[in-house]
Amino acid sequence: MSYKNILLEQPEAGIYLLTVNRPKALNALNSATLDEIGAAAELITRDSTARVALVTGTGDKAFVAGADIAEMQNFTQEEGAAFSARGSRAFARLEAVPVPVIALVNGYCLGGGCELALACDWIIATDRAVFGQPEVTLGVCAGFGATQRLPRKIGPSRALELLTTGRQVKAEEALSIGLASAVVPADELMQKGLEAARSVASKGPVAVRCSKEAVRRGADMELAAGLALESELFGRCCASADQKEGMAAFLQKRRANFSGK
Ligand code: CAA
Repeated sequence: MSYKNILLEQPEAGIYLLTVNRPKALNALNSATLDEIGAAAELITRDSTARVALVTGTGDKAFVAGADIAEMQNFTQEEGAAFSARGSRAFARLEAVPVPVIALVNGYCLGGGCELALACDWIIATDRAVFGQPEVTLGVCAGFGATQRLPRKIGPSRALELLTTGRQVKAEEALSIGLASAVVPADELMQKGLEAARSVASKGPVAVRCSKEAVRRGADMELAAGLALESELFGRCCASADQKEGMAAFLQKRRANFSGK
């Protein structure tokens, strides 16, 4: 598939970089962009050599400034519901990518942009990043997952405060409430993102995938069921060549050379 609204690159082996690329609209998400994000997520999912993915936006002003307001303006009830479902589908595909997906937030991260970041596994933000769910200012509630993912991430009270006031949150506050995992200087974002990606990519690929599966599937389970899932996945790791190599390397005091098998 060729993309018009995103860039999908592999800056290094095993590392994908997805960039939302509509700088004239501050990378706002229209239907075509949502579909391309979903398609890119499928491509990464199918690539057994993928180790990690980074998601960002073009330019230094915005990660993504939300869903495309020009497209939404005259929506009927049915069109609104369909657009929301379309975004949810795309972000569910991104969340289901079996390797870690890291959002690199380089500016405005509002509405659907914040929801895109929430569908990633963690967020590295620049000191200039601004987060928020301003949908109520426009007369709509959030439509790409924030009513569900934001409370799971920062708790229902904080989420409701942001969802019902539309208040913008700067990087340091985002860090303190657990929305962002790290804040870095703006000119170091890609370097820090690549460092995080390399760190993941250097670990046992089977173990990394099992870790994500356990956390993601376990989030919707009772504790006992989640622990049983973890045991099953731990067993799966022990059946892998990666586990034999990782533990042999430790005992032989050398670096592991993982095959991802
Ligand atoms: N949709 C469509 N176009 C957008 C956009 C969006 N979400 N955000 C910005 N743009 C466009 C602007 O219309 C403008 O286009 P023109 O140059 O053609 O006029 C261009 O991007 C630059 O934007 P501004 O001139 O507004 O830039 P600024 O620096 O003055 O302000 C901003 C930046 C504070 C981010 C402001 O653009 C803004 O408030 N954007 C909207 C943020 C928002 O409300 N997002 C939520 C959308 S609703 C949603 O996401 C629903 C959902 O969950 C499904």
